Amino acid sequence: MFMRTMMYCTMFVWIALSMTGCSGEPKSVASAIIIPDGEKDPAVWGRKFPNHYDSYLKNSEKTKDYSKYKSDNQCRLSPWPFQFVLFDGWGFGVEYNEPNGHTEMMKDQRDIDSSRKKAGGVCLTCKTPYAPELRKKLDIDYFRKPYDEVLNEIPEKHRTMGLVCIDCHDPATMDLRISRQTLIESLKAIGKDPEKLTRQEKRSLVCAQCHVDYSIPKDKDGKSIALVFPWKNGKWGNITIEAVIKQIRDEGLKEWKHKPTDQKLGHLRHPEFELFSSPGSVHWAAGVACADCHMPYERVGREKISSHRWESPLKNDMKACMQCHTQDAKWLKDQVYNIQDRVNHMFTKAGYTLASAALTLEAAVKIPKADNATIEKAKALYAEAYYRCTWIGAENSMGFHNPTESLRVLGDALDLGHQAEALAREAILKASATPPEFDMAQIDKIVAERSDGKTGFKADVKKRAALMSGK
Ligand code: HEC
Ligand code: HEC
Ligand code: HEC
Ligand code: HEC
Repeated sequence: MFMRTMMYCTMFVWIALSMTGCSGEPKSVASAIIIPDGEKDPAVWGRKFPNHYDSYLKNSEKTKDYSKYKSDNQCRLSPWPFQFVLFDGWGFGVEYNEPNGHTEMMKDQRDIDSSRKKAGGVCLTCKTPYAPELRKKLDIDYFRKPYDEVLNEIPEKHRTMGLVCIDCHDPATMDLRISRQTLIESLKAIGKDPEKLTRQEKRSLVCAQCHVDYSIPKDKDGKSIALVFPWKNGKWGNITIEAVIKQIRDEGLKEWKHKPTDQKLGHLRHPEFELFSSPGSVHWAAGVACADCHMPYERVGREKISSHRWESPLKNDMKACMQCHTQDAKWLKDQVYNIQDRVNHMFTKAGYTLASAALTLEAAVKIPKADNATIEKAKALYAEAYYRCTWIGAENSMGFHNPTESLRVLGDALDLGHQAEALAREAILKASATPPEFDMAQIDKIVAERSDGKTGFKADVKKRAALMSGK
């Protein structure tokens, strides 16, 4: 009886299948594959979407000097050596590299200097697809426990797994989906309903799960206890550095101590989404999404797919831009470089001024008779300038994502840096001492001399700090 039912069922399914087969598109074997709920292994997804998987695997390729300011896996401090002064006292002052491909990020993180992982398990948030469940399971310990202890909670074979399909897709429908709670909470904080996102918004927001600035609040013992996007003073389409600084100040989100100016500071990290979506961004205003420029359509055999090799549009001969622009690759590339050269000019200028301000403050702090009130004012101004300069320096497009906003923020950084330096000099003069003079053309020498052999400054790395106006 059971056998006969089975036989009819099988026949019915077979007939149904062959009927659809005759009337519609021939169904491929791939479309019948069901991706289990919660499946993290991209190879399993790859059986259903082999072209996407092939494209995804290309993320592990590394390219040197593919554009003027970018080179995979390169040290990001030595090309702009003033940063060694700005980050003195912080793990970033030891090691800070250019991004690599998405498949490499766990490997990269495990390879870096251990001082960079001191914050604990919290560092895994942007790197492993296990982050959401580990956070649920370990609760506050997820942030607090040492990095390696939390890493050991991940099955061994998945410990080097970087960004994977489930981070952005729902396996049942393949719809884009936000998997990181931090972003969902942060969207609510700026009055954006995470349940009512358009498809185009999601084509940016899946990236904003990680390509954003975040702070790591600490308890009184300096242990990490959470991860927040300091957005709540901002709005959808308007999360400026001023809004972020306000929250860092109001909530004391200080993460490290800057040695030269002897003060605790917050830290800013890769604000691609914030800068891109703020006023001044012509592309955001025109409704362009991250995926439009970083996941252009490409043809693979009969299929047209969104490229799943996330990379600089300059690596791919500006093909992404040509989906909308009719100009040729050279024109488009020139526009990118014109913008980046100008932003780099201001970044360099602000950076030199800040380094000089920090070193002058360092001298002032050491003079016992120097006026404390003036020094405190100078320190506060330095902090304001530092946040602005780093906002653009930590952002990964050298200003392309929002040129006018980048120049505005760097202009303010320059102005505030000068004010900080002037006050530090005043404090020294009031104590009848002589303020030091720093020639930023000699920044390499200054950094090398300050180095106790640990800064990681590499004199042989190509310099990218440059002033268009000469000196
Ligand atoms: C789960 C976190 C996460 C998500 C989601 C994410 N990224 Fe990334 N992305 C990273 C990290 C981390 C790196 C740096 C990797 C490294 O250096 O090892 C990176 C690097 C990159 C790079 C540089 C690649 C290279 O070869 O230099 C680009 C471009 C990029 N991401 C674009 C995007 C875009 C566009 C999206 C959304 C469609 C996105 N990312 C989504 C975490 C993420
Ligand atoms: C209009 C096109 C465009 C849009 C939209 C766009 N980007 Fe970019 N992005 C660029 C260009 C151009 C660069 C500079 C690449 C270079 O210098 O090689 C860049 C650089 C980057 C980099 C560094 C790449 C590298 O090779 O190191 C990352 C990461 C990145 N963008 C992420 C994003 C994210 C996330 C979004 C959305 C919030 C976004 N981009 C929106 C064009 C775009
Ligand atoms: C960083 C986020 C992200 C990750 C990780 C990711 N995708 Fe996608 N995927 C996208 C975006 C964005 C689109 C475009 C969706 C749209 O336009 O609605 C897309 C589209 C697709 C589509 C629809 C067809 C197309 O090409 O537009 C398929 C199928 C797909 N992805 C498969 C995969 C597979 C398989 C993996 C893992 C190997 C993966 N994706 C990983 C962001 C991601
Ligand atoms: C999805 C469509 C789309 C893509 C992809 C795109 N752009 Fe645009 N771009 C626009 C629109 C729309 C504008 C607004 C002006 C207009 O209508 O021409 C614009 C404006 C510009 C401008 C003028 C900006 C200004 O401040 O006035 C430049 C330069 C530019 N794009 C360069 C690029 C480059 C370089 C890329 C690739 C990295 C790119 N675009 C990718 C749609 C796009």
